[in-house]
Amino acid sequence: AFRQPIMAGNWKMNPETEEEALSLASEVAERLGAETCATGGDSVDESTCTEVVVFPPFPFISKVKDAVAGAGLVVGAQNFFYEDKGAFTGSVSASMVKSTGCEYVLCGHSERRTLFADSDSNINLKVKKTLDSGMKPILCIGETQEEFEIGIKKEVCATQLSKDLYGITKEQMKDVVIAYEPVWAIGTGLVCGAEDANEIHAYCREVLTNLFDEEVAQATRIQYGGSVKPDNVDDIMAMPDIDGCLVGGASLEGEGFARIVNFKR
Ligand code: G3H
Repeated sequence: AFRQPIMAGNWKMNPETEEEALSLASEVAERLGAETCATGGDSVDESTCTEVVVFPPFPFISKVKDAVAGAGLVVGAQNFFYEDKGAFTGSVSASMVKSTGCEYVLCGHSERRTLFADSDSNINLKVKKTLDSGMKPILCIGETQEEFEIGIKKEVCATQLSKDLYGITKEQMKDVVIAYEPVWAIGTGLVCGAEDANEIHAYCREVLTNLFDEEVAQATRIQYGGSVKPDNVDDIMAMPDIDGCLVGGASLEGEGFARIVNFKR
């Protein structure tokens, strides 16, 4: 089955200034190639073009959106709190991030799981809230180094998928993107081999078949994340079950990230 490619840049807590954020976003927007959903090209097919999403820190989202939306670059939020409003100092809601122009939300990123104690039940609430708010979740899953070493990567991914997608309908799954990110490959320069990653992606489709059905499993887009760079992206994207990448460090350099989103298959 054809799945529309989706490439995403998670800026994490970078860059330091709004000026740098705007210049990074513009640099990417200017370099969106013919295969991407860049607006302005005559031949863009909305159902097959590569979607390109950037996830700036909250304070920069609105201005980044204004600066690049016309080019066809999409913005998303790295997080939100699942309550609608109230006394939750320091938090922002789903409707707030939506109002800044976000179309996607990262749910369950390993840094949220480990540094901010996001549990599977909280992540499940965020996935539901994202969908109910008219946005699309990118649900991040993946094993830690320790889990990798003791040989339970498949079990970890299966558990995360079943808990984090609990109660989601087949219809809603059309808007859900999964990102497989082996935690030991994040920011370390250790890239999971493309074939090893593909094996887990294929396994995740088996899990989705059990949780939903074969049709959902074949239609769901699964990104790979973990030390994706301009020089390994083509090998990764050559894999049949890898539908895109979630890029951290390499998304902070405009020209390099543009090379990544304009990958060659
Ligand atoms: O969200 C992105 C991932 O955490 C990957 O980060 O490309 O710096 O390894 P990285």
